[in-house]
Amino acid sequence: MSCYNEFVRVPIVAANWKMHQTLAQAQNFVERFRPLVRGVKSTEIVLAPPFTALAATQEALRGSQIRLAAQNMHYAEQGAYTGEISPPMLCELGCEYVILGHSERRAQFGEGDALINRKLQSAYAHELISILCVGENLDQREAGETEQILARQLDTDLEGLSAEQIGRLVIAYEPIWAIGTGRTASPQDAQAGARFIRGQIAARYGGRAAQALRVQYGGSVKPGNAAVLLAQPDIDGALVGGASLDPQEFAQIVRATAT
Ligand code: 13P
Repeated sequence: MSCYNEFVRVPIVAANWKMHQTLAQAQNFVERFRPLVRGVKSTEIVLAPPFTALAATQEALRGSQIRLAAQNMHYAEQGAYTGEISPPMLCELGCEYVILGHSERRAQFGEGDALINRKLQSAYAHELISILCVGENLDQREAGETEQILARQLDTDLEGLSAEQIGRLVIAYEPIWAIGTGRTASPQDAQAGARFIRGQIAARYGGRAAQALRVQYGGSVKPGNAAVLLAQPDIDGALVGGASLDPQEFAQIVRATAT
């Protein structure tokens, strides 16, 4: 049992499409997905298409309860940053959320915690809600360093943020060894990670922020394992990669949280 679960947090299930879905595929997805989640009000549903499909996805979502997220952004408002996308550009497209610090960006594009912190600060300044990804790799888990890694990431990623800001944040606990591998964390391990993260927030920012913070689990979430993962007391939703590309599968995962 968590000591912070008496506070009602709205579950949040997000699709991280990564570098998948052309414009036409994104539109087709939304057309098929919308009817499958019509009437779902107790869970926030978020789609994070690639930048090129944001506008078309937003258009296709018009009139639905489904929210839009970007998968990354630059921290600056504008400037000589070839290939980058700014927070105002995302807001103009109707994004309410932005995924920051995904392990693929950390590992493949050299994003460090200090940079991720600048992005988080900028997201707050532009009223975008961040979905901050943290998690350990297999070597770190096997060396018993999971908590140390999570604590270190949170240390720098959240530097300078207020308790009130932290309360609006979403943190995705994504063990790297579970991403795209089909090797899901056990519900106990996923809960232990989520609980540790909430405990760290409580210690640093107080109980109110910890109660309000939503923690997702990410890493090989599928229709078959979603319900048990999402039933854990400190897990408030999921960040879904592969299974979010299929409208039926993603809708089943959403429905696993809906009451
Ligand atoms: P998979 O669901 O494909 O394992 O990806 C998880 C992920 O990285 C979501 O951000």
